[in-house]
Amino acid sequence: MWRTWRALQRTEYIKCCGLSGMVALFRTVVGVSLVGGLLVVLLWTEHQVDVKTPAHIHFQAHARAIPEAAAPGTALDKAASQAGTRKSVQLQSPRGASNTPGDPHHNTTPLTPTTHAQAPAPAHNPQAPAQVVVKRERTGGSAAPTPATPTIYVITPTYRRPEQVAELTRLAQTLMLVPSLHWLVVEDAVAPTRRVLAFLDTCTVPHTYLLGTASRRYKGANKPRGVSNRNAGLKWLKVHAKEGVIYFADDDNTYDYRIFHEIRHTRQVSMFPVGLVTRLGVSSPIVSNGKLVGFYDGWVAGRKFPIDMAGFAVNVQFYLQRNAPMMPYNVGFEEDGFLKALKINPEDIEPLADNCTKILVWHTRTVKSLPALKMPDNDRVSKTNLHHLKSQIVFQLPHGIS
Ligand code: UGA
Ligand code: MN
Repeated sequence: MWRTWRALQRTEYIKCCGLSGMVALFRTVVGVSLVGGLLVVLLWTEHQVDVKTPAHIHFQAHARAIPEAAAPGTALDKAASQAGTRKSVQLQSPRGASNTPGDPHHNTTPLTPTTHAQAPAPAHNPQAPAQVVVKRERTGGSAAPTPATPTIYVITPTYRRPEQVAELTRLAQTLMLVPSLHWLVVEDAVAPTRRVLAFLDTCTVPHTYLLGTASRRYKGANKPRGVSNRNAGLKWLKVHAKEGVIYFADDDNTYDYRIFHEIRHTRQVSMFPVGLVTRLGVSSPIVSNGKLVGFYDGWVAGRKFPIDMAGFAVNVQFYLQRNAPMMPYNVGFEEDGFLKALKINPEDIEPLADNCTKILVWHTRTVKSLPALKMPDNDRVSKTNLHHLKSQIVFQLPHGIS
């Protein structure tokens, strides 16, 4: 602006100065045009930042710039075992989070990767069953489980969507309050979601990340959700756990931390009420004189165990003794099929939460958010904090890219 003003002053002056004045006038006109052009460009750029731009060609570049597969430096150790078509990649934290029984405050030592490597891009076989493909973990460190505090293995299915990290954050905040717990975060994806790995890097809950990719035939409406993930978690347990308790905790439910104290001493299979299930508002075992005598559930459908996924826990030893069954891909009947495969006598089921008088877990649902609109590629983004935020939100991808 200053240069423009000076140029205009000079214009007044050269009006009466002959040929040299004409030359100066020409230079001034060129200068004013250049400055004007620059201003137009600047204003346009401002406009691009403030206006929500619909999808266009720049998405292509953006989609490539932020791939969902873990980038180098996100700590996936390639030196892992490989069995048949199943790839297993593991990262072990050299320092574990301390998880002293009774002490909800874990050591906040960050996960330190021993090696860095590009995540393998697993070949997607639509016929393949759920597979453990990538595994990395923060261990429980010195918190060796004792008979008084058997480890609770929480298996959480999760999948890529805008609210994914928000759900995992909320769940992690609850799990932080629970001693002797190992969280199996199992993602239904063909490659790990980078945002999830970044989230787990700062998560102090002892955990293992697994891939549990659902085959294409189990995707879409009226298909079982979270089964490939849970089965990947169960396969991991078969190898790594000898005792403790298994609990299936979907990422979008709401858990009172006391439910974990309740289930910790499950001998075979324990059950308890779950709020916000069907129009009845609750799904619960019916208990009389301390014994389970039936089920209260809005969708019985001939099930032997009409109960929600969040409404039961299983002892690890008992599970292994019953030949470690997997969960069936049978929409609506996943819980029933799994519990029936455990061959449990209904009279042996342990009612918890004060004889099923308390609701300590809720089947909440989160309103689905649309993926975010594109953030522009300009200095206002690349040279400010926006650049950091860009990597933490889920963007709409161009048609055909998922
Ligand atoms: C209900 C039950 O609570 C689930 O345990 C059961 O798997 C599901 O119905 C079913 O029968 O299909 P609902 O709340 O309706 O669950 O389903 P979601 O919350 O959408 O999904 C259940 C779990 O699977 C979540 O943890 C979710 O993150 C995960 N999921 C969902 C995937 O891993 N992949 C998907 O494509 C969808
Ligand atoms: Mn849900």
